[in-house]
Amino acid sequence: MNRRNFLKTAGAAGAGLFLMPNTLYSALQNSPYTRADFGPDWQWGVATAAYQIEGAWNEDGKGESIWDRFSHTKGKIKGKDTGDVACDFYHRYPQDLELMARLNIPNNRFSLSWSRILPEGTGKVNPKGIDFYHKVIDKTLELGMEPWVTIFHWDLPQALQDKGGWMNRESIGWFSEYANLVTREYGDKVKNWMVLNEPMAFVSLGHLLGWHAPGKKGFGKFTAAAHHASMVQAEGGRIVRANVSNANVGTTQSVSFVDPYKDKPGQQKTARRLDAMLNRIFIEPSLGLGYPFEELPYLQKKIDKVIQPGDLDKLKFDFDFIGLQTYSREVFRHVPIVPVIHALRQSPKKRGHELTEMGWEVYPEAIYQTLKKFNAYPGVKKIIVTENGAAFPDKVEGDQVHDAKRTQFIQDYLGQVLRAKQEGMRVGGYFVWSFMDNFEWAEGYKPRFGLVHVDFETQKRTVKDSGIWYRDFLAGK
Ligand code: FCB
Repeated sequence: MNRRNFLKTAGAAGAGLFLMPNTLYSALQNSPYTRADFGPDWQWGVATAAYQIEGAWNEDGKGESIWDRFSHTKGKIKGKDTGDVACDFYHRYPQDLELMARLNIPNNRFSLSWSRILPEGTGKVNPKGIDFYHKVIDKTLELGMEPWVTIFHWDLPQALQDKGGWMNRESIGWFSEYANLVTREYGDKVKNWMVLNEPMAFVSLGHLLGWHAPGKKGFGKFTAAAHHASMVQAEGGRIVRANVSNANVGTTQSVSFVDPYKDKPGQQKTARRLDAMLNRIFIEPSLGLGYPFEELPYLQKKIDKVIQPGDLDKLKFDFDFIGLQTYSREVFRHVPIVPVIHALRQSPKKRGHELTEMGWEVYPEAIYQTLKKFNAYPGVKKIIVTENGAAFPDKVEGDQVHDAKRTQFIQDYLGQVLRAKQEGMRVGGYFVWSFMDNFEWAEGYKPRFGLVHVDFETQKRTVKDSGIWYRDFLAGK
């Protein structure tokens, strides 16, 4: 069903329309845009990540990653799920990429598994791992799509974790070896590169809260990992630029729109502190602005322990684009006794908006606000929305999945992206997370983000209505 049919069907529901949630109703009235409104240079795509789709966790010489170890540890992943098989993309990539092309998708964002290429993280190269990504890249190109490669999307080799992982300063050297290898290997075919996926997410979830691999907890661990990942972010940028001719080099950031709990100075200050914590620690050093110590004095004490002379300069890199990934909004209440952040997160349930399967508030304006925030940095040359999308429960009916909420979510968020573009912001692309349902980290397989449904028992793919909508939208319908 294309967008117009979708509108017609919704309209045919007649009085039923008034029973729809407000967001749905308003968007049906207010999103009269087409692909052409975004202009001819706009980059459209879908995104995935190696550990979330590939499976084949120990095949053809692949080494263990921290996500293999973590998902094999009791009690870490909901439903005892693992990425051992996932979408079996490792074996099914030809058909999956053909399906992607049939959906008219011009750009395929995916990540490389470090331990598939370098099983021990450094040293001995696995030729079958190298070969696998050549095949994925070749097939992508052969089908008329462009590969957009994320060098690191969270699956650090376990062998490196055993030496301290991101908390060890040597991680800068380990990553450089890996990044040099892959950019030299694939650089003649791949022009679009992203160094890291959401450093704030993997550093905090994995080293402060312990919810993700490698399951570490503590502010000292967090700051050490954050500083080294920040160094790697810039170093990776330099490596891509040195090894790839005509590279389009970026890195991605998770960005949360933080709204004050109340319109009072104390609460606004709290919102600024949380904004600094969630959104500024990785982008600002790369722009030469240093860490946001003014809002986060405690961070300074910890960073002082790991920073070395000359690092501030090395943290800088002039990326061609920043990948922005916003899904929702956050609200924090000032609570002085909470250490470091002096705040507690308000449950999104309290705000009366619809929530996704992840428990994230549906709040389309969040993406506009985060684009505005990043656009305000003069050093950010261009922004690409490298991930956005939603998990809702899906039901397969025959060979269809009527996921009206996901389609609506994408239409509403995209409408806000268009608003930003029309106001002259430097935003130039949009990638849906995700091409197909996959392993959603600690949440396992339950939250489904795909435009394509995956039956994890049979590996059957079913294009959802949202996928059909995106296909027709990309066709200019
Ligand atoms: C992002 C991650 C991605 C996926 C989506 C839902 O934070 O980059 O791998 O899990 O969230």
